Amino acid sequence: MNRRHAVAAVLGVAVLSLAGLCAFAGQSGKTGPEFRKQFIDNFHRTGLNTTPGDAMMLRILVESARAKRGVEVGSASGFGAVNMGIAFERTGGHLWTLDLDPTAIKETRENLEKVGLENVVTAVEGDALKTLPTIEGPIDFVFIDALKQDYFKYLKLLEPKLSAGAVVVADNVIQSANAMKDYLDYVQNSPDYDTVIIRSSLEKNDGMAISYKIK
Ligand SMILES: C[S@@+](CC[C@H](N)C(=O)[O-])C[C@H]1O[C@@H](n2cnc3c(N)ncnc32)[C@H](O)[C@@H]1O
Repeated sequence: MNRRHAVAAVLGVAVLSLAGLCAFAGQSGKTGPEFRKQFIDNFHRTGLNTTPGDAMMLRILVESARAKRGVEVGSASGFGAVNMGIAFERTGGHLWTLDLDPTAIKETRENLEKVGLENVVTAVEGDALKTLPTIEGPIDFVFIDALKQDYFKYLKLLEPKLSAGAVVVADNVIQSANAMKDYLDYVQNSPDYDTVIIRSSLEKNDGMAISYKIK
């Protein structure tokens, strides 16, 4: 083997080792289940964020509905988006999370990147009343968690794009029942939806409305 061949062989081995390391990092690095679990367990949540129990319920709903195109109205720093993002990664789907606060969007993007979900979840900055019409349908999963008195408006903007079988979850429906009376009256009385109100995480002494779009 001459010197040229030896250098080529060494370079080849180095490239192969690097590729192996990258593959390993992909499985056990920031996209690995253990890393993500720790990230979620250590997430610096504020009072705005969804609780861990509620976020896990959202994740299970996305997975069990095999949802492919989801929208979250109200991202805060992305705790719900990270949890639902894991589910959408598993279903091969995509989530759009919307917030009008630029700091919230920045934090959400940073958090998504930390767990390698930046290609699964898109954070959209702006007033949801303006950005919702820009999200293309069909939509089969919705989590509404922004301005309580606007829940009905968010739903009405999304409704034409909802597929039959879509799941729509609304947060804080016990503590803010009066502010969203129009929303609750609609989803509880419309023949197009099955709706249940559940007491969710005790941490907030609140609940969620889960609606299934029949047709
Ligand atoms: C309760 S927090 C969302 C928590 C988040 N879903 C989670 O899982 O951690 C509500 C968020 O809604 C946002 N928000 C309020 N009104 C909005 C609007 N009109 N359009 C978009 N976002 C809005 C606020 O900036 C805030 O970050």
